[in-house]
Amino acid sequence: MDLSKVFANNTNWIAGKLQKDPAYFEDLSKGQTPEILYIGCSDSRVSAEELMGLQPGEAFIHRNIANMVISIDLNVMSVLNYAVRHLKVNHVVVCGHYFCGGVKAAMQAQDLGILNPWLRNIRDVYRIHKSELNAIADENARYNRLVELNVQEQCVNLLKTAAVQDAIKHRGLEVHGWVFDIKSGKLIDLTLDIDHLLKGIMEIYDLGD
Ligand code: CO
Repeated sequence: MDLSKVFANNTNWIAGKLQKDPAYFEDLSKGQTPEILYIGCSDSRVSAEELMGLQPGEAFIHRNIANMVISIDLNVMSVLNYAVRHLKVNHVVVCGHYFCGGVKAAMQAQDLGILNPWLRNIRDVYRIHKSELNAIADENARYNRLVELNVQEQCVNLLKTAAVQDAIKHRGLEVHGWVFDIKSGKLIDLTLDIDHLLKGIMEIYDLGD
C-alpha cells in the first residue's frame, strides 16, 4: 500500500466535511460527549464506526484481540472507567464477530507465545460452556456459538466491575452484547438478559456502593 494515499484521502475527507459544515472541526475540538462505549475486536474487517454508521464524537472505542474484558488489563479497564465514570456513557457494548481469528486460534493445540495468556481467557469461556459447545457437531456453528458465548462472558466481566455495577444502580447504564457477521455485514443484537446475568453473579461479585 502506498501510504501517500492515506494523506490524500485525509485531504479529501476534510474537504467533504467542511463543505457540509464549515465549523465541523472547530466544533469537534470543543470536546466529546459520546453515548456509547464500544469494545470490539481489532480485526481489520470489523470497523467500529463504519458498521454502526456513527460519526466522530459519537462512540468511545476500545479494540483488542477477540474483544476481551480482562480484569487485570489496565488498558481496557482504564477505557471502561473513563467512559463510564467520566464521560458517563449510557451504553457499553461488547461486539464480537463471526470468523474471529482470535477465537479460532484460542482453540488450537499450539503454543502461541505471548498470545497464550490472552487467548486462554477464551478457553475458559469454552470450559464454562463445554457441554453446550461440545453438543454442536458442525465446526463452524460451534465456533459461531463460541463467539457469542465469549461476548456474553465479556459482558459478565463488565458486570463484575465497580464502575459498571455503580452506574447500572444509580443511573441506568445499559450493557449490550452484539455480534457482527462479516459474511453478511449484519450487526446482530444477542439480546442478552443483562439483568439475569447481573443477578447471577452478585452473590459473589457485589462490590457495594
Ligand atoms: Co476477531
